[in-house]
Amino acid sequence: MAETSKCPFVVVANRLPVDRVSGDDSAQWRTSPGGLVTALEPVLRQHNGVWIGWPGSALDDYAQFEVDGLNLLPIELTGDEIEAYYEGMSNSTLWPLYHDVVAKPAFHREWWEAYVQVNQRFADAAAQCAARDAVVWVHDYQLQLVPAMLRALRPDVRIGFFLHIPFPPTELFKQLPWRNQILEGLLGADLVGFQRPGGAANFARLVRLRLGHKNHRERIYLDDGRQLTAQAYPISIDFTSLEKLARTPQVQQRSEEIRSELGDSRTIFLGVDRLDYTKGIRQRLRAFGELIVDELISLDDAVFVQVASPSRERVQQYIEVRHDIERWVGRINGDLGRIGRQPIHYLHSSYPREEMAALFRAADVMVVTPFADGMNLVAKEFVTCRYENNGALVLSEFAGAADELRQAFLVNPHDINGLRDSMLAAMLADPRDLARRMRAMRRQVRENDIDSWATKFLTDLAGERMRSG
Ligand code: F6P
Repeated sequence: MAETSKCPFVVVANRLPVDRVSGDDSAQWRTSPGGLVTALEPVLRQHNGVWIGWPGSALDDYAQFEVDGLNLLPIELTGDEIEAYYEGMSNSTLWPLYHDVVAKPAFHREWWEAYVQVNQRFADAAAQCAARDAVVWVHDYQLQLVPAMLRALRPDVRIGFFLHIPFPPTELFKQLPWRNQILEGLLGADLVGFQRPGGAANFARLVRLRLGHKNHRERIYLDDGRQLTAQAYPISIDFTSLEKLARTPQVQQRSEEIRSELGDSRTIFLGVDRLDYTKGIRQRLRAFGELIVDELISLDDAVFVQVASPSRERVQQYIEVRHDIERWVGRINGDLGRIGRQPIHYLHSSYPREEMAALFRAADVMVVTPFADGMNLVAKEFVTCRYENNGALVLSEFAGAADELRQAFLVNPHDINGLRDSMLAAMLADPRDLARRMRAMRRQVRENDIDSWATKFLTDLAGERMRSG
C-alpha cells in the first residue's frame, strides 16, 4: 500500500462516501448510495479525519486522495472478492439474515473466506493510517471482524463499531455457521452501537449464551478483564443543512414544477428507497392501486411517485424484486391509467440532494413501509424538508425511525388493508392534525440530529477507554 499520513480520526466503512462513475476516463465521483453515507459525511467533515472504503469500481491508483474536502483511502477489491465478500457474504447471507430473513440467506464457505480476507485488508489499512491513540470508527455488517483484527494489530487505538442495520434475535443469528467468529469480531471494539435497544439486547444475550461472557445491562465483561459497552444510538441526519437546502428558491421552484407536472390539485404520494426487497415497495403500490379500484380515491385526485434507486444489481434477489415491482407498476398503470393520467410514476434512478429535497417538498403523503430497517433516514429527511408543518408520513413500525417519529401514521406493511386505511387517512387528515404531528416529528429530528448522535457516540467511546483503564 502507498504511504499514507497518520490520522487521529479514522472512519472505516465498506464504501467510500463517493463512487467512481465507471466508464469515464477522467475521475468523476458521485455520492454513494444509502443512509450510511448521508449520515457520516458531515461527521467526517467535522472531525477532519480519513475515510477508508471501497470506491465502487477499480482505480488505477489506491493512494490516499481528496474529493470535495474529504480525505479518502480507497481499498481495492478484486472481481472475485466483490462476488464473494460483497454480493455473497454481505448481501446474500448477512443482509437477509439480519433483516428477519425476509429473503432466504445463503451460506457458502468460500464467501466466508473472502469476508475474512477482506475484513483483514480493511483492518490492516486502518492500522497503518491511524495515529497513536487514534479513534477508529468501524461501520456496518460488512466489517464485523475488523474490531478484533484491528485490536490485535493496534491495541493503542480506541475502536468504536456501529451497526446501521437491525441486529437479529438469537433464534435467527444462531443459523449463521460463523456466529461465534462474528461475535468475537465485534467484541474487539470498546463500544458497539446499535440502532435500537432491542439490537443491543440481542447482542448481549448472544455473547452471554454463546461465548459465556457475563453482562450487566449494556456492560459486557470479558474473561481477560476487559469490558465494553453495547447500546443503542439511533442515527440521524444533518437537519440544519438539509432544511437550509429545502428553503432555497431553487428547491422551492423545482418542487412547484414537479407539482404542476403531476397535476397541481392531485395528492402526491411519495416513496423513496434503494430498490431492496426489505423496503415493502410492492405492498404500498398494491395498496394504492386497490384504493383506486375501490373508488376510494380517483386518478384525478392522487398520484404515486416511487423513486427506486438501483442497488446491488447483480444479486439474484435484487434482480427478482426489480422484476416483481416493475410487473406490478406495469399492471397497475396498464389497468387503471388513461392517456395523460398514470396512477404511478416509477423512477428507477438516483437523484442529487436538491432534486430529492424538491420531491420531499412537493409530496403530500410520504410512504415508508419496510419490513425491517435499521433506521430509515428517508423518513427523517422528509420531515426535515417540511418546514411549513404540512404533509403526512406513513411509516412502518418495523423501521427504527418509528421509535422516534411516534406521530407518523404507523403501519404494519404486511397488512395491506391496514396500509390502505392509513394511506387514505393520511390523505384525508385535517391539516391541523397534520401540523401538530409534523411539528412534534420535526422537533424530534432537530433535537436529535447527526451531530448529537456522533457526539454522544464519540464521547461515550472516549469514556470507555477511561473506564477500562
Ligand atoms: O445502511 C445499510 C447499507 O448497506 C450501508 O452499509 C451501505 O453503504 C448502503 O446501505 C448502501 O448499500 P450498498 O453499499 O450495498 O450499495
